[in-house]
Amino acid sequence: MARNDPLALGVFMPNCSNMPSISTHAVVADQWHYTNNERIALLAEDLGFDYLFPVSRWRGFGGDTNYLGTSLETTTWATALLRATHRIKIFSTVHVPLFHPMVIAKIGATLAHISGDRWGLNVVSGWSQREFGMMGLTLDDHGRRYERSAAFIEILRALWDTRGEPVNHSSDWYRINNGVSLPRPARMPEIANAGVSGDAQAMTARLCDWSFMSGASIEALPKLVDSISAQAEAHGRRVKTAIFPFLLWRDSEAEAQAELQRIIEQKDEVATHNWLHDISAGSGSFDEFTGNMIAASGGGLPLLGDAEMVAEQLRAIHQSGVDAVMVTLQDYERDLQRFGSEILPILRRMGVTRA
Ligand SMILES: Cc1cc2nc3c(=O)[nH]c(=O)nc-3n(C[C@H](O)[C@H](O)[C@H](O)COP(=O)(O)O)c2cc1C
Repeated sequence: MARNDPLALGVFMPNCSNMPSISTHAVVADQWHYTNNERIALLAEDLGFDYLFPVSRWRGFGGDTNYLGTSLETTTWATALLRATHRIKIFSTVHVPLFHPMVIAKIGATLAHISGDRWGLNVVSGWSQREFGMMGLTLDDHGRRYERSAAFIEILRALWDTRGEPVNHSSDWYRINNGVSLPRPARMPEIANAGVSGDAQAMTARLCDWSFMSGASIEALPKLVDSISAQAEAHGRRVKTAIFPFLLWRDSEAEAQAELQRIIEQKDEVATHNWLHDISAGSGSFDEFTGNMIAASGGGLPLLGDAEMVAEQLRAIHQSGVDAVMVTLQDYERDLQRFGSEILPILRRMGVTRA
């Protein structure tokens, strides 16, 4: 597929502990600290990246790593980062069952005003009974989760609509009576949904601007992109797609493979098991991933090799129709710098990215 628009670049940020691998090999144990995130955000902005996405977690996955167990909350995290940066767009990731839409309407409008409309919302329906159980909540059935997320987004869009009609809504989850939330953002914030299942795609196609997905392989991407695009088209809409690759490159492919093996050898078996157990309950979307792949990349698509090979794989991802990549990295600060000097020039030469 010929593409004219460049591949947008983003960082899937390490606002949680032990990102991105479920492994004790960790090179930087405390990447989640705010000061670290701010340095990474400024570096990404400097390199011409377009987006920062966080992970939202309320509890870790046990084992030696307690994978993602320490995390910065993503609306307050975004507030600080939006003031530290000037151009880059920053998303917050919000669990639908944990917030009333009127609260997120207010938080989102505040962030939009603070940042000159650089804030976006990544909606997640929730999948870990481990964290919901801690709050005395029970996960809905898969389909019902997305029905609720759809209602949540419809209410937000109505409250943020600059035409300013009072909002009335009645569903199994919400009752809004002549709802109003001021200020409104000057422009409608971009809304993403993270998920890949049929339920996720149907909801995203109808209501979201971005589909944030995981793909089992580069070869699997065109089908995913076509599926979401066709469904969006049926609603007269266009939905952009993003994936999160794990970039692991060394001077040679053999060295990169050896590093991957080192990560896998030190896999945190308990946390990997808990993660897979939680994600597979009620969802088959991650079936194709092996435990090792999940442990190595936290569900991201591993891109391995030397710099040229990784750039080539990013070009293939772009050719498959994907609009943006939110990269994950072993040592975010070190590897973003390396990305800027070793991979970005190749991508520019290839005409893949504008950054
Ligand atoms: C790229 C990506 C990012 C995600 N980020 C989060 C997150 O930060 N917090 C969370 O609870 N779930 C997150 N998820 C999980 C999804 O929201 C969803 O619950 C999961 O993919 C299972 O739903 P599905 O079967 O509809 O895909 C993410 C999923 C993907 C693909």
